[in-house]
Amino acid sequence: MEPPFGLSTAIEEQLAFLPVKKLAALASKLSEDYRSGKILGREPYICTYEEALAYVAFRLPATFAAAYFALSQVKERLPALSPKTLLDVGAGPGTAMWAATMVWPELEHITLIEREQNMIDIGKKLVKYASLPSIRQAEWMKVDVVGEWNAPQHDVVIASYVLNELPPQSIESFVLRLWERTGSILIFIEPGTPAGFSLIRHIRERLLAQGASIVAPCPHGNFCPVPENDWCHFSQRLSRTRLHRQIKGGTLSYEDEKFSFVCLSRIPGSDIKGIVVRHPQIRKGHIDLKLCTPQGIVNVTITRKDKERFKEARKLDWGSIVYW
Ligand SMILES: C[S@@+](CC[C@H](N)C(=O)[O-])C[C@H]1O[C@@H](n2cnc3c(N)ncnc32)[C@H](O)[C@@H]1O
Repeated sequence: MEPPFGLSTAIEEQLAFLPVKKLAALASKLSEDYRSGKILGREPYICTYEEALAYVAFRLPATFAAAYFALSQVKERLPALSPKTLLDVGAGPGTAMWAATMVWPELEHITLIEREQNMIDIGKKLVKYASLPSIRQAEWMKVDVVGEWNAPQHDVVIASYVLNELPPQSIESFVLRLWERTGSILIFIEPGTPAGFSLIRHIRERLLAQGASIVAPCPHGNFCPVPENDWCHFSQRLSRTRLHRQIKGGTLSYEDEKFSFVCLSRIPGSDIKGIVVRHPQIRKGHIDLKLCTPQGIVNVTITRKDKERFKEARKLDWGSIVYW
């Protein structure tokens, strides 16, 4: 899923202020900081306006796609949920807000919490062409969530690609604090790496112990069956614009964003039979599926003979919900 037209237009407008070469150099530095684990030093790494702009050019489309996928899954599991308030924590330029309003356009009031003033400044500029008043009137708060902060309960609370930037010793209290401020659902999204999933798995266990229900992606609130040498993650393919290709120095017309996520809730989600946890393998006469189910991780083969099931299985993708 690509960012909506109003957001893309505003992004292009903002990026026009920086020469492509400069953007490419900043994007490459950001990318290197991520790869080298420098951000795990927890020093702010996006500080200047130009660095924040590079984030918008180089990461926003991908984190938007991940957030849109995760929230769409939540909507599928909680079709009756009609949230009115959203709290986006570690909001950056407001990426998750844009995804959430596409999934729930009925959102009326949005609060965004962010430590870096330059991110907030860009986020405010990006709402210029938003069609929804909730986005244009969103309330931005400059807050370091590692310190003392407060916010009222919101129906939906989201922390997207934030946990891995926090000091490890602060994560537990941060998560519990977000849960206290959650009226209905709380979503965490992290990079789809072993380290990202390990954080997600830890939060899942921690909040289930607090009495939360699991809504997505897991089909159950039992012990997570993913083995230690594996990690549960999903993937979204997004096309790269010419500028994106220039900035990233790549020739591919697309990229795949890998991410892990979890949604904990005060309302139980609808029952499902499983979720597809790898690309389905479509062979000549059969389809192989790897599913996470309440009974654990199972491999299922659907043969062409089973006409109806085969037809349904052909429509499945990595991350699809299975109802049979
Ligand atoms: C990788 S960006 C993610 C931005 C956005 N949520 C997204 O999905 O694109 C992480 C954001 O968290 C913010 N952040 C990191 N530590 C923070 C803290 N202690 N308090 C508030 N914001 C923080 C950073 O400034 C940055 O904007």
